[in-house]
Amino acid sequence: MASRSKTPSKNAPKSPAQTLAQSFRLPNGVLVPNRLAKSAMSEALGTLDNRPTERLERLYARWADGGIGLCITGNVMIDRRALGEPGNVVVEDESDLPALRRWAAAGTRRGGQLWMQINHPGKQSPRGLNRETVSPSAIPFRSDMAAFFATPRELGDDEILDLIRRYGNTARIARKAGFTGVQIHGAHGYLVSQFLSPHHNRRSDRWGGSPENRRRFVLEVLAEMRRQVGKDFPIGIKLNSADFQRGGFTEDESLDAIRALAEAGIDLVEISGGTYEAPAMTGIERKASTVAREAYFMEFAEKVRAAVKLPLMLTGGFRSLAGMAQALDSGAIDFIGLGRLLAVEPDLPSRLLRGEDPREEIKPISTGIGMVDRMALMEVAWYTRQLRRMGEGRNPRPRESGLQSFAIGMIENGWNTFRTRRLRAS
Ligand SMILES: Cc1cc2nc3c(=O)[nH]c(=O)nc-3n(C[C@H](O)[C@H](O)[C@H](O)COP(=O)(O)O)c2cc1C
Repeated sequence: MASRSKTPSKNAPKSPAQTLAQSFRLPNGVLVPNRLAKSAMSEALGTLDNRPTERLERLYARWADGGIGLCITGNVMIDRRALGEPGNVVVEDESDLPALRRWAAAGTRRGGQLWMQINHPGKQSPRGLNRETVSPSAIPFRSDMAAFFATPRELGDDEILDLIRRYGNTARIARKAGFTGVQIHGAHGYLVSQFLSPHHNRRSDRWGGSPENRRRFVLEVLAEMRRQVGKDFPIGIKLNSADFQRGGFTEDESLDAIRALAEAGIDLVEISGGTYEAPAMTGIERKASTVAREAYFMEFAEKVRAAVKLPLMLTGGFRSLAGMAQALDSGAIDFIGLGRLLAVEPDLPSRLLRGEDPREEIKPISTGIGMVDRMALMEVAWYTRQLRRMGEGRNPRPRESGLQSFAIGMIENGWNTFRTRRLRAS
């Protein structure tokens, strides 16, 4: 009779927790300790003049202690003249290096990866926050959003080249400060995404007119970052599967963009989708069957896997241990991207790795106010408040009233927009 070994054989099926606990080595040699990744969530915890704070250190230490393998920061801006929200951190020179170093040290203190998400909002910036907004073309917002977002000014060629250098410069400073990688925000309708979209980009020069020309901006951003950070430093990108907007960026174009990025040496692609005008990233307007199956953009991830050899992360809708393990076991993706769950359960990775399910459910948070709900403004305000609580050393409050926190969030945001403007005027 064969004796039973106590150590499981290499080919024994893995438990869901074991599947999530496997480390992953990126092609450049960087080791990520497990398959759980925190997707970017804008913290709005910078100072009024957009510098990093102790609140960010507390928040990222909390996520590091929670066992996350790959932690991606909320979007950090490359240009002081172009904020997405009041309280964004801006990195355009080395003046905040000591504070950035403390932030990086807090987020890496358990040996996980900490990547800085780097962004420029382009036209997606609320009216009144910046002196003006810019974009590849001067295309107005949907008519029901035009009161909140101004029609942008078209960027000149010199300005485009300056922005490309800025993406590279911010990445270089992130590396110098101790972040272990960077991520280009190429999704959700911000500047990179505006360049890629035939709806937002109507240019007829080398930056628009054909899919190849519309891709030029993101490829130049990647090349400039690579030039400034060197070849072994991870550079990832978050990209839309599609914009879900008539005349927008399609799945076919997204696949072509991913092929081009892979050839140009991107280290990791995170798949998401949607824009402010069609916010598919949080599950709004996704089919009920898609939401029930957890991962909103899984079908597209499968297409990418079949077409391109590249590490893949998928974000949007993951809610259970079994759902996450199945997605990894299917072989379609390498990392599970988590947003909202980590805003209410910062220690969730440790729980999942012990084989436990999340404690909290992510329910849609709605106000009943049409435009507010369509733009997922309420969601963002509510979750941002949870991040702020953790930044202040408190626990998140998963049962907090939606409408109340939305109202407080809007008042704070409006007040901070006003104060940010005054500060800049002085
Ligand atoms: C409060 C909040 C802020 C967000 N900020 C960003 C951001 O700065 N950059 C980004 O790429 N995505 C951002 N997102 C989107 C998330 O990264 C993620 O794509 C989305 O929440 C879906 O994942 P989930 O279903 O796990 O929450 C944000 C989401 C929330 C709720």
